Amino acid sequence: MSISALQVTREAATREFWRVLMGTLRERQVLRARPRQGGYVLPEARCAFSLPDRVIFVLDMQRLGGIPREMWLKHPIWKQWRAALDGRPVFVTDSAGLAVTVGREPLAPASRSKHTLPARILLTAAEIPDAPYCVRLGYDEKNQPLDLNLAQEQRAILMGGASGYGKTNTMKSFVMQLATKHTLDEIRFAIVDTKEVDFTGSIAHLPQLFTSIAYTLTAAEELIERVEAERVRRQRLMHQAQVSDWQQYNAKSDVPFPLLLLIVDEAADFKDDMATLINIARKGRAFGISLVLGTQRPDSKVISGQVTANLPTAIAFRTRTNGESRVILDRAGAEDLTRPGQALIFSNGWLKVQTLLVTDIEAFIHSDIHVQAPTLTDAETFLVCLAQEEYGGVFNIQRLYEDPQNVTATGYRVSKRQITKLAQRWEKCGWLTQPIDVTQPRQVTAEILSLTYPPLRPQKVVIR
Ligand SMILES: Nc1ncnc2c1ncn2[C@@H]1O[C@H](COP(=O)(O)OP(=O)(O)OP(=O)(O)O)[C@@H](O)[C@H]1O
Ligand SMILES: [Mg+2]
Repeated sequence: MSISALQVTREAATREFWRVLMGTLRERQVLRARPRQGGYVLPEARCAFSLPDRVIFVLDMQRLGGIPREMWLKHPIWKQWRAALDGRPVFVTDSAGLAVTVGREPLAPASRSKHTLPARILLTAAEIPDAPYCVRLGYDEKNQPLDLNLAQEQRAILMGGASGYGKTNTMKSFVMQLATKHTLDEIRFAIVDTKEVDFTGSIAHLPQLFTSIAYTLTAAEELIERVEAERVRRQRLMHQAQVSDWQQYNAKSDVPFPLLLLIVDEAADFKDDMATLINIARKGRAFGISLVLGTQRPDSKVISGQVTANLPTAIAFRTRTNGESRVILDRAGAEDLTRPGQALIFSNGWLKVQTLLVTDIEAFIHSDIHVQAPTLTDAETFLVCLAQEEYGGVFNIQRLYEDPQNVTATGYRVSKRQITKLAQRWEKCGWLTQPIDVTQPRQVTAEILSLTYPPLRPQKVVIR
């Protein structure tokens, strides 16, 4: 909205609001701190622009009440205004004039009162809600739990905040909670961690991973493409099955679609791929694909209107400025959060929440998660898929080794020795059949096929 647009409208409702606003400020004698410099008397505003939730007015530049122009743009002044206006949000921007925005309603007590939330609430198994795909974000100031449904209402989440205030922790908390209660057939995680340090250890070996965690930009781009390809695959299968929703498809099919949760820890790394991410957020609902997008640098160039429109659930941890808070939440307030783990979110009204802290993932995993379930690495998955798709399920070491795709699909060639070792190991655990004599090749079994993703169906075996 340009300032010239602001300068033309003045409604009766605004006048009333304006009268109350000015009355309050005068009554509280706000901004009268330095009488010798002319006093911080509030100058009349030239005009106002009224919106349902806020009023914006432009200060008369000739009469700035003795306050230097740059002072108007500083937090201490805004804080005095806020206090005088019962916690209504106030901020000033400089764009061809000083435009002051004042919210009509006070901010939720959440963002005014400090220290009413406990500093730490640990994630334990007892916190995990029973409802499918629901996770506990944390507790609000009334000590009420706040749960999010990552398959339905909160399936596309934008999470922002300055470094060290709890984004990654909350993403891990979501993963741990879902991994504890959902099996491989019900959930898959596609995780991008370009910082390379956050999603490591046991979390990187969860059986429910869609594919290995992407630690580099190239791997991340590939992973995002794979998620998009999976969406297209689901679309095709659902079209064939004549259903319009993944859960309807699952009710009919013996190979159900797990919820696919794509987690991207730093969106700013993907400026150029944002269109794909937006597409996944926009179209994913019907296909059981959810998205959590985090950012440390909420910049309107990266987090555009398109992003916020398609990721309707916003969670803000402390931001550096109120501008960043507005990029994420479309309102100020996150800059006033004080401690790591505190977050603002809209859920039937604005809430300040203390998010759950993930402490010892290793202990949590070993006590609660289906982590013992077997899993395949990317190279192993590739070999099983190659055997199944190209050789009808025959696990012929020489052929797999020589197959031209053995170079291209994995980026490196899986050596003959590696394939032989795998074949022996898998034969022992019953994932490959035991051949009657050494001249016969082994066959892949339904069990190992179910560990690939998307799960491959056994085919009619053709011995070559
Ligand atoms: N819910 C919480 N309760 C208490 N402390 C927390 C909570 N969440 C995070 N913290 C503290 O903040 C630290 C940083 O958290 P986290 O790594 O999640 O930040 P981040 O927002 O991802 O930062 P960056 O943008 O640098 O990646 C944690 O190590 C922990 O000490
Ligand atoms: Mg982080």
